[in-house]
Amino acid sequence: MNAVALDIQDFALLDDADCDARIRAAKKALGSRCVILGHHYQRDEVFQHADFTGDSLKLSRMAAQSDAEYIVFCGVHFMAEVADILSRPEQIAILPDMAAGCSMADMANLQNVERCWKELAEVLDPDAKVTPVTYINSAADLKAFCGRHGGIVCTSSNAKAILDWSFSRREKVLFFPDQHLGRNTGYRMGIPLEEMVVWDFGKPMGGLSREEIEKARIILWKGFCSVHQMFQPQHIDRFKETYPDTLVISHPEACFEVCQKSDYIGSTEYILKTVREAPPQTRWLVATELNLVNRLRDEVKGQGKSVHFMSPTVCMCSTMFRTDPQHLAWVLENLVAGRVVNPIRVPEADKLEARKALENMLSLA
Ligand code: 13P
Ligand code: SF4
Repeated sequence: MNAVALDIQDFALLDDADCDARIRAAKKALGSRCVILGHHYQRDEVFQHADFTGDSLKLSRMAAQSDAEYIVFCGVHFMAEVADILSRPEQIAILPDMAAGCSMADMANLQNVERCWKELAEVLDPDAKVTPVTYINSAADLKAFCGRHGGIVCTSSNAKAILDWSFSRREKVLFFPDQHLGRNTGYRMGIPLEEMVVWDFGKPMGGLSREEIEKARIILWKGFCSVHQMFQPQHIDRFKETYPDTLVISHPEACFEVCQKSDYIGSTEYILKTVREAPPQTRWLVATELNLVNRLRDEVKGQGKSVHFMSPTVCMCSTMFRTDPQHLAWVLENLVAGRVVNPIRVPEADKLEARKALENMLSLA
């Protein structure tokens, strides 16, 4: 085993073509000892090296089923944490760039959520009446919080089934950190908007009255995705003035008004599947991250389908973009040399409780 890790500075100035060749060579040397998981928002130069690609749910299943010694996660921090929680103790999850976080996940932290739980207890008994549901886009200690309090994790592809599960246990849901996924899902289940209130974590009692809390069925954390908030209903209206036959498909992290004007709503994997399986000559306006949309546009062009990005401004997930071929080459060559750089290790106590909340989710097929 090499004592000294290869330095990222030695990779930073490599051009993408050099990185490409070095990644391929390192992958070959590692063989089945290493698996690369790639989220759909990854840039092409990284995405092409993934052994498996998918949305958050599919990739967490892949991580749980993998036999590889190393799980290199080309995605963001919470995804690598999930891989660490669900994999066996001897497996190691690796995040090529530690700065690849998720700004939405950062909008909820344990201190604020515990304060919310305590404040809710001034109005009702939360452990008897409220199921805490965390979107998978959250830190491991919040998943652990859900595990401790009879709660569950959800993703954009299973949110309805998770809310059904939650309401079968307790009469209310505390949903964090993404208010939009919570609201869009709740509304599609028939919960009226006035029974979904927003908990402003910057204010005492979330800025809500006792009556509002008592009446609410879903308490939505005031979090959002900075990428998906760029999509606006007027973008759909304007586009349809020119192309009235357009089909609109959106990720449920987009706001309520955009989702209301969409023909289809679903996870990244769902968006890809729906457009791929659509009849030729259809036109699509898509509300999700730019790398996915560009790849999909190129893929289905040959079938006469046209795919358009919903926002007139370029909005990419800047943290997903942090994983570049230079970092990927760096972690893989270190593994070949017997060094693990950038391992993600969730503290044991959080791991056990977070696993409980994740297993509650995975058991719901
Ligand atoms: P998916 O689970 O749909 O891939 O979404 C992950 C994400 O972060 C969307 O912004
Ligand atoms: Fe987080 Fe939004 Fe990026 Fe998804 S697109 S990883 S929610 S910041």
